[in-house]
Amino acid sequence: MAAPELRFDPVAQDYFDNPYEIYRRMRDEAPIYYDAEQDFYALTRHADVAAAFKDYESFSSARGCDLGMVRSGEVPQKSIIFMDPPDHRHMRSLLNKAFTPRAIQSQRDTVTELVEHYLAKADPNNFDVVQDFSGPFPVEVITRMAGVPEDFRQQVRHWIDTSLQREPGQISWSEENMKANIDSGVYYYGLVLERRENPQDDMISRLIAAEIPCENGEMRKLDDVEIAGFATLLGGAGAETVTKLVGSAVVVFAEHPDQWQMLLDDRSKIPDAVEELLRYVGPVQYNVRYSLRDVELPSGTVPANKPVFLMGASANRDPRAFDDAETFDITRDRSQAQNLGLGYGIHSCLGAALARMESAIALDHLLDFMPRFEVDFDGLERVHMQNVAGFHHVPVKVLR
Ligand code: HEM
Repeated sequence: MAAPELRFDPVAQDYFDNPYEIYRRMRDEAPIYYDAEQDFYALTRHADVAAAFKDYESFSSARGCDLGMVRSGEVPQKSIIFMDPPDHRHMRSLLNKAFTPRAIQSQRDTVTELVEHYLAKADPNNFDVVQDFSGPFPVEVITRMAGVPEDFRQQVRHWIDTSLQREPGQISWSEENMKANIDSGVYYYGLVLERRENPQDDMISRLIAAEIPCENGEMRKLDDVEIAGFATLLGGAGAETVTKLVGSAVVVFAEHPDQWQMLLDDRSKIPDAVEELLRYVGPVQYNVRYSLRDVELPSGTVPANKPVFLMGASANRDPRAFDDAETFDITRDRSQAQNLGLGYGIHSCLGAALARMESAIALDHLLDFMPRFEVDFDGLERVHMQNVAGFHHVPVKVLR
């Protein structure tokens, strides 16, 4: 029987349910995939995706990073992730100061404390990894760093969830998505005004005090909208992603108990496990760009003026780049190819060190909390979101 027609629909139920099957077909049958109905391109092979991530002069981020945004040309807020150089360079060098290895290391105790707090409250007989643990703790870390008062930290997570949620078939923003985004923007805007009056030892206060060069070379301060935009992005980029990675990690280890045992026997393998999780079940599926010119890539040409999906999650499972690419193996040789799970090139993840640290601390504590466990596979529930994959619910029973 002939295979069904190859169609990649980023908001289809079967794509949400299992993105990896369609990636394999796209890599093999249509590496420079063109969708005539929606008029976009998608890259799935490692060589093409990595080349496109590097070539920021051809693949612009300034129109946004999902299909709805890139098509409308309207980005929801001024934010580093939606900038091209030189604006991007100025903003990135400013923000890099807040994410130095030292600054991240200084968060280690906070992360450990929060991880322990949520696990201490969890019920081993009825534990939902996402709802009870990997959902609440990362947002707490990043909003604390930003300077959000305690009462609003979990609210930030609910706004992000609502703003990213997509129904099958929905490409553009719904009113609900928009409202959550606006509510969170308004909240942060108010917080910025408050911190101008009353600076604290937090990231928002430091951004208020910072200066960046403008076009004529003179220095200027960031305005309230820019700071609120960055704070909104941080909530999404810095919380949702770790939530998904840790939730998916538990599912993958339930399917590979020998590798969980390897970690129980030797905790020094945890950082390797985090890298392999980022490769194998990294939450970010793709980032969309806009092609500014015709571009030659290893597998063919992408024409100018089109939305282009750079599908990092597919590239990370490309057998042309990794041996046994579809196999989860925490001991694999990581020098074979660039892992694209945290992006690549000028927009590569600003919070990479924090993401790795949070994930490693979470795994270390989960090994103590549930050395032996079972996942209720029937109770798994996937998220339906724009460009991130993972689970809403991962029910687990800790075994004695
Ligand atoms: C497992 C967790 C994470 C994953 C998988 C992840 C993944 C990514 C990816 C793929 C990009 C590239 C976006 C693009 O090229 O358009 C990115 C950018 C970014 N990430 Fe992360 N991220 C994670 C955690 C974090 C954390 C904890 C923070 C913040 C504290 C953060 C902040 C950012 C920011 C600000 C950018 C934009 C950088 C730029 O445009 O220059 N991320 N991330």
